[in-house]
Amino acid sequence: MDQAERLRELVKAKRAEGEAPENTGNAEQDPDSSEEEFPDHESRPTTKVIAVASGKGGVGKSNFTINIAIELSKLGNRVMILDADLGLANVDILLGINPKYNLVHLVRGEKDIKDIITETEFGIKVIASGSGVKELVNLSNQQRASFIEKISELEDMVDVLLVDTGAGISKNTLSFLYAADYGIIVTTPEPTSLMDAYGLIKVTSQSKSNVPLKLVVNMVNSREEAKEITSRVILLARRFLNVFVESYGFIYRDKNVLTSVMAQKPFTVMFPGSKASECIKEIAAKVSLRMQKPSDAVMDEETVQKRGVFKRIFDFFQ
Ligand SMILES: Nc1ncnc2c1ncn2[C@@H]1O[C@H](COP(=O)(O)OP(=O)(O)OP(=O)(O)O)[C@@H](O)[C@H]1O
Ligand SMILES: [Mg+2]
Repeated sequence: MDQAERLRELVKAKRAEGEAPENTGNAEQDPDSSEEEFPDHESRPTTKVIAVASGKGGVGKSNFTINIAIELSKLGNRVMILDADLGLANVDILLGINPKYNLVHLVRGEKDIKDIITETEFGIKVIASGSGVKELVNLSNQQRASFIEKISELEDMVDVLLVDTGAGISKNTLSFLYAADYGIIVTTPEPTSLMDAYGLIKVTSQSKSNVPLKLVVNMVNSREEAKEITSRVILLARRFLNVFVESYGFIYRDKNVLTSVMAQKPFTVMFPGSKASECIKEIAAKVSLRMQKPSDAVMDEETVQKRGVFKRIFDFFQ
């Protein structure tokens, strides 16, 4: 049984027992895992919002989002993806689905929130953004109020909302990132990608959001390379930006990813035993364990309950 497998079993077992998981014995992988009590599934404080972002484009955000969503769902979480790559939405294409309705229909008042959720065969739900989504930015106050009200209805429906953002430091992406409980920044070992990841961390550090940032290095050739890249980013962020970025793991460069993209099937489904899939499972186990801990939240619980998780997300439309 590999580490990911052990973590998964641990989550399942502990959830079944309704008690706190103990330290997994791997302090480096999950340093806080023994610190707090884990509430059971039903008593989780709120939906956890995780924004997946990157400086440079094409680093694997959407593939990461989709595949980690599927693994989180397998771990017993109710998972939804919000495709927030407003210009170049492609979560639906990667999943091989054809959502009938999207956020635009909701805003236009043509559909209710439940109508724009696409159920998938993978156990996860998807809200597609659609090509005309830019009109969301220009909502009238009334439209916005009604939109927020509708989106808030989702709060009891999912445990985790993964927001797949567009690359770079656009206002939209930053707003989603700032509003999330935490952001996962995806980079590759390429110097340009690293530079842009650092740029994103820098911009975020200059905001008042205080959003915790995690790092995932994608398309690595070896564990050593991943370790070296990770420590470099963490060190630079700490030394020059005074920001603590936490490592959430890495994903091997794996040709099965491209094959699965071409087949429009998630690689964790098409190639569950592949190197990339094993890495995703490991990260998902970590996210799942940490998801149940209120310590990752940006705001205290009282504030979260007052404002509502989805209201925070769509604040940027105001
Ligand atoms: N682990 C990996 N191994 C090999 N190739 C990968 C891996 N991850 C992603 N890729 C390749 O990178 C391409 C881009 O991935 P993806 O669309 O997920 O990136 P993205 O960051 O969402 O891009 P964008 O910024 O345009 O939204 C994929 O089509 C695939 O070919
Ligand atoms: Mg993408």
